[in-house]
Amino acid sequence: MRYLIEGEIIRSENAAKSYKQKSKFVSNYLRARPSSNKVMDFGCGKLRYSDEIVSISKQVVFLDSDLQLSRNQMVRGVSTSVAEYVSTHYAHAQILSFECAVAQGVNSCFDFINCSNVLSAIPCVDYLQSALCIIYSALQGGGEALFVNQFRCSSFSKFESGRRHMYGYIYKGRLGYTYYGVMTNDVVVDLLVPLGFEVVNVWSEEDVGFVLVRRPHTVIA
Ligand SMILES: C[S@@+](CC[C@H](N)C(=O)[O-])C[C@H]1O[C@@H](n2cnc3c(N)ncnc32)[C@H](O)[C@@H]1O
Repeated sequence: MRYLIEGEIIRSENAAKSYKQKSKFVSNYLRARPSSNKVMDFGCGKLRYSDEIVSISKQVVFLDSDLQLSRNQMVRGVSTSVAEYVSTHYAHAQILSFECAVAQGVNSCFDFINCSNVLSAIPCVDYLQSALCIIYSALQGGGEALFVNQFRCSSFSKFESGRRHMYGYIYKGRLGYTYYGVMTNDVVVDLLVPLGFEVVNVWSEEDVGFVLVRRPHTVIA
């Protein structure tokens, strides 16, 4: 997704990391989760955790911007697009663009949604809110969403040389302007609770924060 912020284009698609740069904490958590029927990887990037996600679910939807899904790049060691990689490697998986989800909505049928390192890459309040609303509405009652964010890393001094914006900084890097939001667990909880999510668990492993939330069951009076 490209964002125009105060005259600078932020190419958030460039923030996605390779499957060779997994966090062992995220990978271990996903592999240990009980099996789910239908899982979404919201902001799937270059499919860093796709094997873990496919291994715990019967059906998977990989969601990212139209641009991230369709452009040619190295995806898990293959020169291809995310869309092509998914269709040729995962029998029970589909892709969905953020643009399509906004325009058409998403059925409330997911029992688990993974959202790793995505909130920190969205430099616009309206898009951040609409991403969270899509996640909420895509969950079935009782379904869980995991928000993972790295709130410290070796590059932070580089980010801090940039200018302040929303939860973090906009700085000029090798591939143009980048936004990095410092999404601590407290910040994430404060964004999620007003939208109706129930907090299930909050924890950190080294510099990685985890917030696990649930969409409450609808009570029929
Ligand atoms: C830092 S990458 C994380 C990718 C992946 N989840 C991972 O952990 O490797 C951030 C991703 O968020 C995507 N993104 C940015 N804005 C988005 C939006 N509004 N909706 C969905 N994805 C978005 C970017 O295209 C990028 O792939």
